[in-house]
Amino acid sequence: MLICVIGSGVVGLTCALDLALAGHKVKVITRNYEEGASWVAGGMLAPFSEGLEGDILRLSIESLRLYDEYVSRVEEVSGHSIFYRRNGILRILDSGEVEAYKALADSYRALGFDSQPLEGSSLREAFGLLSEEISSAILFKDEGNVDSQQLMDALIFAMHRLGVEIVLDEVHKIKIEDGRVEEVIGFKNGYGADFYVFSPGAWGSALLGIPVYPLKGQILKVRGLDIDRVLYSPYAYIIPKENYTLIGATSEDVSFDHRRTLGGVRSLGNNAARVVPSIDECEFVEVNVGFRPATPDQLPVFDVGENYVVSAGHFRNGILLAPVSSKVVVDLLERGVRSEYFELFPSRRFQNGNHTDKS
Ligand code: GLY
Repeated sequence: MLICVIGSGVVGLTCALDLALAGHKVKVITRNYEEGASWVAGGMLAPFSEGLEGDILRLSIESLRLYDEYVSRVEEVSGHSIFYRRNGILRILDSGEVEAYKALADSYRALGFDSQPLEGSSLREAFGLLSEEISSAILFKDEGNVDSQQLMDALIFAMHRLGVEIVLDEVHKIKIEDGRVEEVIGFKNGYGADFYVFSPGAWGSALLGIPVYPLKGQILKVRGLDIDRVLYSPYAYIIPKENYTLIGATSEDVSFDHRRTLGGVRSLGNNAARVVPSIDECEFVEVNVGFRPATPDQLPVFDVGENYVVSAGHFRNGILLAPVSSKVVVDLLERGVRSEYFELFPSRRFQNGNHTDKS
């Protein structure tokens, strides 16, 4: 089959990888493959620290379970190694969050995911750098941390190795006849295929007619902090990578404003210092900007048609959700299995003014 993937974020490229591995000829069409949110994402695999519940928790857990194999697959095909740790995330709790998170941790434990509450002196013994202000945390032991930039680099190398063509063009129209996509139209060319996967990130709303909007995030890169696992607080998260540390992230509803702002840098620095005061001594490396593909209810969209799938709106969790999002497409094409996620996360929930509030 010839398959066109529209979008080159982590979801689009992972679909392209798995479809190419399944023997299909795959073409990725992208307006700019370096612009997606995935390149600057923090890479936390954190469904529990994020406090997810219900169907989105189920989707996230399925993806988390696929992650070891996913990273090995990308490394093997690309020939590139990817920084990836599954040593847990320390979720630092504000006083107002303690009871709710303890209850969540109990519900996660009932699903088989281990966690350890830490308070006062035991917290400070385990994590010496923490500020005196922090008095309560939960270590979610199954969570992880992947270097998103290395993952994206490796996926691009994997595309080359698998012969996946990456075409630079902006698809602005979808030609549909009798429910089938006949062609997608870019500013340079039209592209016909047997099957289409639409994963256009924050840029998808006009093309797909679904309310995906950009939620800007600024993220700092610093050097010189000696921590070995993610510290996730309500004010900032501090994410150690191989040779640097990320401090994330702002959440700004300002459309596609690419500017790196002093206010963004200042708030991230100040918030991180509330968690680890010595972070002020770190070397500042850079600040980057990404646009999360948000939806009004902050949940993703999975739609299926006769010869296409839409996999969009992954919001704060695209890196985490990439393996399961690809599995949904591969299961459909290779095994004829129509995922329950098409029923749980359809775009039709936004029709007739439902869920129109950004929450
Ligand atoms: N996943 C964290 C963020 O989007 O800021």
